[in-house]
Parts: sequence; C-alpha cells; structure tokens
Amino acid sequence: MPKLKLPKPPLPPIPPAFQPAPPRPDETDGKTTPLDVAKEAGTHVVDWVDERTSLSGAARWMMFRKVPKGTNWFYTLGSATMFAFLNQAVTGVFLAMYYDPSPTHAYESARYITNEAFLGEFVRGMHKWGSSVMVILVFLHMARTFFFGAYKYPRELNWVVGVVLLILTMLMSFSGYLLPFDQRSYWATIVGVNINGTGPLVGPYLSDFLRAGPEFGATTLSRFYAIHMMLVPGLIAALIGLHLYLVAKLGTTAPPWQRAEIEPELREERA
Ligand code: HEM
Repeated sequence: MPKLKLPKPPLPPIPPAFQPAPPRPDETDGKTTPLDVAKEAGTHVVDWVDERTSLSGAARWMMFRKVPKGTNWFYTLGSATMFAFLNQAVTGVFLAMYYDPSPTHAYESARYITNEAFLGEFVRGMHKWGSSVMVILVFLHMARTFFFGAYKYPRELNWVVGVVLLILTMLMSFSGYLLPFDQRSYWATIVGVNINGTGPLVGPYLSDFLRAGPEFGATTLSRFYAIHMMLVPGLIAALIGLHLYLVAKLGTTAPPWQRAEIEPELREERA
C-alpha cells in the first residue's frame, strides 16, 4: 500500500504576551505617557525573563495546542481534579500553621482552628470538603478516560501514572483522617491500619510502617502527619507534572463516536 503523505499541521499562534513589543511612542512621535509604559510593562517582563531562560518555547509547546473535534465538558475533569489538589495544598498550608501533631495537643489545636482562629472554620471546611471533592473528581476523571478509551496505545503509561495518582489520593484521605485525633478518627484509623495488615506478603510490613512501631501511639500520629503533609503531596505534585507532560506530548483522545475526516486528495490516493 502506498505511504500516505499527511499534511503538516500549522504551528500554534504566538500568544500576544510573547509577541515583540510594539514600537514605543517615543520612537515614533517622541511622546511617552506613563500609561504607555504601564501598558508595555507586562511584555517587557515576559521579554526580560524569556531572554534569560528561553522559556517561551516551552510555554508555547505546553499551552497552545490543537484539541480533537468533539472535545467536551468531560475533558475538564482532569483539570478540575488538579484544582481540587491545589485547593488542598493551599488550605493545608494554613492549617499547618496552627495544627500540632502531638497526641496531647492535636485535638485541641484542631478545635482552636475551628472555633477561634481567624477564618479557621472556613479554611478547615474547605480542606475537609475539598478532600471529598477531589476523590469524587478523580474517579469521574478516571471513568471519562476509561469510557473514551484513553488508556489505549500510546497512552498506557499515562493510565499507569493515573492509577498511582488515584492510590496516592486515597492515601491522602486515609492519612488525613487521623489528624483531628478524636474518637472517630482514632478508632477508624486503627481499623484501617489493621485491614492493611491483612494484605498478602507486604501487609504486615505496611501496617508496621504506618503504626510506626508495634503500638498505636504518639509516633503513629507524627508518621501520619509526615506522610500527609510532605511525602504524598510531593509525590502527587511530581506525578501530576509527569501526567501533564504526557498529555501535552501525546494529545488528548477524541471521543469514541468521532470519526476522522479524510482530506479529499488523500481519499483519491487511497481509492
Ligand atoms: C490527581 C489526580 C489526577 C489529575 C490531577 C489528573 C489530571 C489530568 C489532566 C489535566 C488531563 C488532561 C485533560 C483531561 O483529559 O481531563 C488528564 C488526562 C488523562 N488522565 Fe488524568 N489526572 C489524575 C488522575 C488520573 C487517573 C486516576 C487516571 C486513570 C487511572 C488518569 C488517566 C488519564 C489519562 C489516560 C489521560 C489522557 C486522556 C486523553 O488522552 O484523552 N488520570 N489527567
């Protein structure tokens, strides 16, 4: 069969912020007003940074690209998950300013955040409800990619990265649940750690690692806190970076009902 010669897609347009600065008014009629300078400030900053980093090429590659016909609202679920994660990261930083991960102070510090700290109840609520929102969104996003067949060649690796992200998201919920250190979180976490211990081969090691020793105690709480606020968020952030790199490199999958349009000249060649 003769090899089909596909037309090269046009390059994405250069966004206005990266276009060369227009001639300054003083280069034309000699009158520069502060407003003219202010209008150009953004372009100059971008130019200044780009001259020293050459990042505009990477930014164009990442952000300005064609998407398949039929792209719809379901394609926003991945970005929605990412924003839910960012909400968790930002609200988590503020909670960490007041939270104390010691068995004697944890409950009291969580109570202080809710009842006394400025906007504490709001920030804690955003973090608590945000965690459920992130879990729901990650499942919906996974369902979208599954039903649209986006796990198939060449995106298998991105699906695997996604599965790890899903597990890490669940681990965030699990490790965060202990932190208020009330009766419910304490006993629920003991049950969860014991369930982990029943897993084949790695189960007992996993529950020992989570418990940070043979007994459930002070070291368990610090371990859960370190896992919740440093280890897992760091891994999630790095893997989201890899996930998005692969999305940008491979492009998104067209909806399964979308059929490719064949250029008329190619149709003739095929016949
Ligand atoms: C923290 C969790 C996650 C974040 C922030 C995230 C983010 C994203 C974003 C922004 C996109 C591009 C837009 C879109 O198609 O929605 C995407 C695509 C994709 N994601 Fe995720 N994702 C996550 C978890 C997952 C999970 C759990 C899976 C599956 C197990 C998965 C599999 C995929 C695949 C296969 C694509 C390519 C879609 C396509 O080609 O149409 N992701 N992800």
